[in-house]
Amino acid sequence: MSSDTIFSTFHLQLSRQEKESLLNQKGIVVWITGLSGSGKTTLASATEKLFYKDGRLTQVLDGDNVRTGLNKGLGFTSDDRSENIRRIAEVAKLFKDSGIITFCAFVSPLDYLNQLARSIVGETDFYHVFLSTPIDECERRDVKGLYARARKGEIQKFTGISDVFERPSHFDLEINTTLQSVDESSQLLHQKLKSLIRR
Ligand code: ADX
Repeated sequence: MSSDTIFSTFHLQLSRQEKESLLNQKGIVVWITGLSGSGKTTLASATEKLFYKDGRLTQVLDGDNVRTGLNKGLGFTSDDRSENIRRIAEVAKLFKDSGIITFCAFVSPLDYLNQLARSIVGETDFYHVFLSTPIDECERRDVKGLYARARKGEIQKFTGISDVFERPSHFDLEINTTLQSVDESSQLLHQKLKSLIRR
């Protein structure tokens, strides 16, 4: 490399392609939506472990790490849910542009929120997984005890109980986690994504 080339390289911003080349993978946003308790974070975590074994770099954004940090202070009004999703999509886009396989596990209860996220991230880098696990099963699991509290009226506007959840009009993959185990669904998702992250 000539000194001119080195000089110009150091003065240009690194491109997404250069970062992807470093990681030997393509960045993507895997947008996983569904009711609370449908298995979104479980699926994201199990799938990222499969990618880890392949030597792939991933990140998981979910309510636990985003609503206690970046989006602390946002609640569950429609305006707050919309701002929650907007910020998540913007952050996910930054991760993706660094070449990282970025899983986003959020309820995202209204169709327009998924469309908003898709438009922020960009159509070609967005893969939407809809977890269609029925409400009865999510409520039966009630991992965080929130459904019981929502039924008692202790939580207002709880998605699926006292607030709406719209089936997305458009998605790339549907998984009902009552019909498929964590192993099965993570292997399926891993398989689907493998060709998309190959450079
Ligand atoms: S979203 O609607 O804005 O996409 P998000 O995925 O960030 O929601 O957060 C949902 C999580 O917050 C649920 O899994 C649940 O643990 C908790 N939660 C607390 N209150 C509510 C509520 N009113 N509706 C839905 N989820 C709630």
